[in-house]
Parts: sequence; structure tokens; C-alpha cells
Amino acid sequence: MKLFTNKKMKRIPVIDLLKAGEVGATVTTSGWVRTKRESKNVAFIALNDGSIIHNIQVVVDMESAIAGVLGRISTGAAIAVTGKLTESGGSGQKVELAAEHIVVLGEADPEKYPLQPKKHSLEFLREIAHLRFRTNTFSAVTRVRHAMIFAIHKYFTEKGFFNIHTPIITASDCEGAGEMFRVSTLDPINPPRTEDGAVDYSKDFFGKQTNLTVSGQLEAELAALAMTKVYTFGPTFRAENSNTSRHLAEFWMIEPEIAFADITDDMDLAEDFLRYLVAYALEHCPDDLEFLAKRLEDEEKNKKVEERSPMGLIDKLRFVVDNEFVRLTYTEAIDILRNSNYNKKKKFQYPIEAWGADLQSEHERYLVEKHFEKPVILTDYPKEIKAFYMYQNDDGKTVRAMDILFPGIGEIVGGSQREDRHNHLLTRMREMGLPEKEMWWYLETRVYGSVPHAGFGLGFERLMLFVTGMGNIRDVIAFPRAPKSAEF
Ligand code: 4AD
Ligand code: MG
Repeated sequence: MKLFTNKKMKRIPVIDLLKAGEVGATVTTSGWVRTKRESKNVAFIALNDGSIIHNIQVVVDMESAIAGVLGRISTGAAIAVTGKLTESGGSGQKVELAAEHIVVLGEADPEKYPLQPKKHSLEFLREIAHLRFRTNTFSAVTRVRHAMIFAIHKYFTEKGFFNIHTPIITASDCEGAGEMFRVSTLDPINPPRTEDGAVDYSKDFFGKQTNLTVSGQLEAELAALAMTKVYTFGPTFRAENSNTSRHLAEFWMIEPEIAFADITDDMDLAEDFLRYLVAYALEHCPDDLEFLAKRLEDEEKNKKVEERSPMGLIDKLRFVVDNEFVRLTYTEAIDILRNSNYNKKKKFQYPIEAWGADLQSEHERYLVEKHFEKPVILTDYPKEIKAFYMYQNDDGKTVRAMDILFPGIGEIVGGSQREDRHNHLLTRMREMGLPEKEMWWYLETRVYGSVPHAGFGLGFERLMLFVTGMGNIRDVIAFPRAPKSAEF
């Protein structure tokens, strides 16, 4: 197939035409048709190639020979257009493209194409995830997601961190919650058995039971205890049966780990990092954020007045950049929650009664949205509700955990200072029934040159929820994995 009339003509992305196209230049571009409008004298085609939220307007003279192809062009079709850039009379756009030649690369049957130029619900778009990149909302989210990935690597590079790839298949359960997807090549119907009838995993591919990782932290710690500042940014997998708008079974996590550092250094890093990322989005994604802010504003109009967010998306982002996070202990938070009107009036689904209770997202959001009206960092949680690796405080009851809570989200970061004292770590692992023999390598770092160190995990999709103002985590990752859902 011949794409372009002039062989020397290179395809120019729509973003370049709109940002830097010179009136009078003859150019070729291509993309997918968003809309086509025909009148007696001219036809207008809104063309989008995903490089920018805006479309380029292609103008076709109905008298010209090329008008003949219009019948094959409809929403969803892919076309290549060569023509002259002219000054645009239309809305807010500097240039439009007066078509001189059009090649229809791929038609899209208007009777069948599911993405018609009207408002589709996000639920519907999830069912056609193979096509939803072609919507303004999803392409905006995708571009912001890319900008955030880049900003994460930029931030750590500028701060002297080294990126490490931690394994996706592991034999350990970092968080100890047992929510793992098994990895095995054994025959599920007829697995080899030991003498007492159990499945004999020594015959499995790795010679032991393995699973998809829930976190890269344990390996990141090994690296930090030599390289001082490292981070891992990879997919993590959790088989928790949480069908919520904030949980995925496969999500991406950013986990920095720093040596010669305590929990305060950890909080300082996390706070600076989050502010940097939000500021980066504001600076580098203005068009997409403006679109997403408008989308959110329209959505808020459907809510009851008292449930509407007092701030728009851009204001919310600026607020995080401009304000320090509030820091308090779990114990202080429990007091606030217990004495709150919400608790007294039984507005919490899970009332707060005693110290030691795990905080639900409703409690986290109360603290952030109602009480402090700022992002909050909670520290020093009861050891019973946290993982084995956290530094044990002298009170014998709490550990040096720190969770960061965000408006509309709840927990966005979970981290801690790590237990670097061998005897304390071993005692806790035994108390919790963890396989100390298999984790010999982790324990050994506390024997040779152990130092205070700390780290955290930022849930990438939770960050994306915050930055884009989207309401469901399944709409900020291209192919969400959730219970009973792995279609695309
Ligand atoms: O609090 P979590 O479980 O912490 C860890 O995994 C530590 N090993 C991190 C570390 O210290 N290096 O998870 C960290 C973050 C949460 O705060 C949340 O943002 C996100 O990961 N997260 C999820 N995001 C989407 N879907 C899920 N099912 C998630 N579970 C946790
Ligand atoms: Mg957590």
C-alpha cells in the first residue's frame, strides 16, 4: 500500500502540526477519525493520533476529486492526509489541514464501530478496553501515566538512586499476608506427591513453592545495604479478593530503599517525592489535566451537593504541592477518630472502639478529608497489624511504620524503618511463624554490616487516581486485573 503521494514526505505527528505547524507548509499526517461533518461545500474531519488531546481539523473541498473517498471515512477509520496547513478559523486551533490527498488506511463500519462520538460510560469503556485508548479520557490518562513514569526515574536519578530490577517470581511472601498467586509447572490434576500425600514441590520447576511477588522490598533492602540508595519500580501481584475502586490484583509499585536512614528520613523522602511528581504533572501535562479537570467537574455535577469535592482537580494538585503533610502517630489518630462526631453518630461502617484496630479506608479518608483537610502521614502502628520487617519501638507494642493518606484515596504510600537488629528480627519472625531457614539471606544482612535503613512503597495506580482525578483504579491502567477480570 502506498501511504503518501510524495515519497519524501515524512509523517508529521498531530502534536507537531498543532504546536509548530507553519501556515503554507505542505505536510502529511495520519490518525483515526473522531468525527466527520459534511455540508454542501466542505467536509470537516477531526483527526487524532494520540500524540495530544486535541484533534487536527482536516478540511475537504466537496468540489475536489478527493471528496469521493468521504463515503469510506467515518468515526474510527484510519486515514493518511496530505495537504496544506492553513490558518484555522475554528475554535482555539492555530492551523487546520486543507486536504489535497487522502488515503483510507482502514475503514470502520459505522453500523458496528462501538465508539460513536457521544459520551460513553467508563463501565462500558472497560468492556471495550481494546478500543478505549481512542477516547479523550483514556488517552489523556495514558499520556499522564507516561509522564509520571518518566518523572519517577528522573527524580531518583537526580537524587543519586540506582534502579534495580527485583524478581517477579519469588519464594517469599514479603507482606506475610498469604495473598499470592502460585507459579508452578506441575500437572494440576496429577501432581507428584510426597509420602504423606502432600504436593511435592521439590519436583516443581524451581525445586520449591514459588509465587508472583507482592513487593520488591526484601531484595531492594539487600541492594540498599551496599548501594545506599536504590529503588525498584515493577509490577506486583496480590490475590486479595478486594473488589473495590482502589484495588487491583496486578499493580505497579515504586519502592525506594535507603541506608543510613530512619523513619523521619523516610517520611521526608516520600513527601518530597510525591510533591515533585504532582508538580511535574502540573508543569508537563497542562492540556491533559485541563481536560481531566473538566471531566471531573462534569462528573461532580451528578453528585449531591454535600458529596461534591470543594476543590477542582488542578486546585487539589496545587494544594498538595504547596502544603506540608500533617504527621501524627497511629495512637493520636485513634483518639481523634474515637472522639469524632462520625464515630459517635455511628457514621463509620466499622466503628472505632479500641486501640489496635486496623484503619479502614473510611477512617483514613475522615482524617484527611474532614479532620485535617491535608495529606496525612501516620506513624508507629501496632505491631500486630503490620509486617514482620518493621523496626520495633521500645514500648514493645508499636513499630516504626509510616502510611501516607491522600484525599479521595486513603492509603497511597506504605513504608517503614526496617528492623536492623538481628535478634529482634529473628524473634519477631519466630513469633509470626515465618520460615527463617528459607529467609537466611535476609537475616544474614543483619549479621554483616547491618545499618539503620528505611523505605516505602508508592502504589503507582493510586498515584494515578490522585493526579488524574479518575474515580476507579481500573481506569488508570490499560488492562486491569481484578477478581474475575482478565479479558484483554
Ligand atoms: O502498604 P503495602 O502493602 O507496602 C508494601 O508492600 C511494602 N513492602 C512497601 C515498602 O515498604 N517497600 O503497599 C504499598 C502501596 C500501598 O500504600 C498502596 O498504595 C499500594 O501499594 N497497594 C495497592 N495498589 C493497588 N491495588 C492493590 N491491591 C494494592 N495494595 C497495595
Ligand atoms: Mg499498607
